[in-house]
Amino acid sequence: MAPETRTKPIQDQIDLEFEGKRVTLPVVKGSEAEAAIDIAKLRSSTGLITLDPGYGNTGSCYSGITFIDGEKGILRYRGYPIEQLAERSSFLEVAWLLIQGELPSQSQLANFQQLIVRHTMLHEDMRRFFTALPKDAHPMPVCAAAIGALATFYQRQEDEQFRHDVAVRLIAKMPTIAAWSYKHSIGQPVLYPRNDLPYASNFLRMMFGTPCEDYVVDPVVAKALDLLLILHADHEQNCSTSTVRMVGSSRANLFASISAGISALWGPLHGGANQEVIEMLEAIEAEGGNVDRFMQRAKDKNDTTRLMGFGHRVYKSYDPRAAILKRTCKEVIGRVGGSSRLLEIAIKLEEIALRDEYFVSRKLYPNVDFYSGVIYKAIGIPVNMFTVLFAIGRLPGWIAHWMELRNDPASKINRPRQIYTGPKERPYVALEARR
Ligand code: SDX
Repeated sequence: MAPETRTKPIQDQIDLEFEGKRVTLPVVKGSEAEAAIDIAKLRSSTGLITLDPGYGNTGSCYSGITFIDGEKGILRYRGYPIEQLAERSSFLEVAWLLIQGELPSQSQLANFQQLIVRHTMLHEDMRRFFTALPKDAHPMPVCAAAIGALATFYQRQEDEQFRHDVAVRLIAKMPTIAAWSYKHSIGQPVLYPRNDLPYASNFLRMMFGTPCEDYVVDPVVAKALDLLLILHADHEQNCSTSTVRMVGSSRANLFASISAGISALWGPLHGGANQEVIEMLEAIEAEGGNVDRFMQRAKDKNDTTRLMGFGHRVYKSYDPRAAILKRTCKEVIGRVGGSSRLLEIAIKLEEIALRDEYFVSRKLYPNVDFYSGVIYKAIGIPVNMFTVLFAIGRLPGWIAHWMELRNDPASKINRPRQIYTGPKERPYVALEARR
């Protein structure tokens, strides 16, 4: 399992006084010198809690999985820079790294790849699951429900080996679930996974192959998809990962926790943004490509329009994943052909934003979703499947965080406090006495 998360010894302290009550709180620092006030004693010593809607200034845990420096645009999985992993690794190797904490040896990787391949099939009863749902169902709630339903096929008592087995089955079966939800939505028969195809190719074939005509996987497309999965594999305490940790903290099983993470990812402010970006670019193109008019609307406080794919809670500089994807867009479109019109519009929007005071003053830069959709579109992924691809990529990260939480003997159920703003005590009024 992943190495225990080591917490640094107390490095400093801070004194707080409130209404005559004093408390000295420790300041802890992580391996990259991030500092935090440990407020465990705050309420018992002063009666105070902290309040941080959106948790923008609140650390929820110690974690040794992913490091982000939002000011410098740094992203590392278990210490390895995303640029090096993108260039030299593979998605299944990154999945092992995130979950186990170290790069696999050649034999470990080969065994892991074989293990994944052997578990890509779904129980035959799951086929009825998909046909029970409406054809026009968005694939994200279908995948969230399917992952939750998988738990019914694995009802063993949970122990460390079972948790590992479930992690393998989730990574192996997620592409099959995704492809089958798509096939159901277009009224085509599903294709079973094949054991002779690598991960991304197996998914592409299940998506675009039919019993009448097999799908020949273009190695450039398969590599682009594998890269997209690597870039989405983890991102520390983002909304969906925090959701997985929240659900896992109650000791709910991994299926239930991942299902909740998929639902959180669907939101348009989070993983759903990649679908919103393409719809935004297509709308701009349909209206004649007037990017200046669109940008005015994105800055107008009276207009709900946002420049989707821009801005980030943590990155206050260029998201390193967006930089890699921007380069990849050009390679993929050049290889598979298809219109570069959406990419041209995206590049124009970025050029305007990077010199516009509104965006510069708010430190709004392209995030991972700004260019990912252009590549998904170029390789033929239907728009409503974009966020599903994000979920397939993020799955190892969710699993790694869930394992880290469950392996931490000090972890407790997450139960935040609040500041109550409702009515003070008042007596019940009988129904007949109410007007
Ligand atoms: C992901 O957390 C993660 O790590 C997420 C993620 C991951 O890998 O898991 O990186 C994946 O979710 C990327 C983000 C995808 N979402 C979008 O692209 C949607 C568009 N972006 C925004 O909605 C927004 O930037 C967020 C949600 C990403 C971040 O929101 P914050 O940190 O809460 O910032 P905010 O909404 O308070 O905005 C600050 C200011 C506001 O203006 P003022 O009130 O100061 O005048 O910036 C403005 C906002 O109106 N603003 C934007 C904008 N994003 C923020 N204005 C126009 N267009 C935008 N995209």
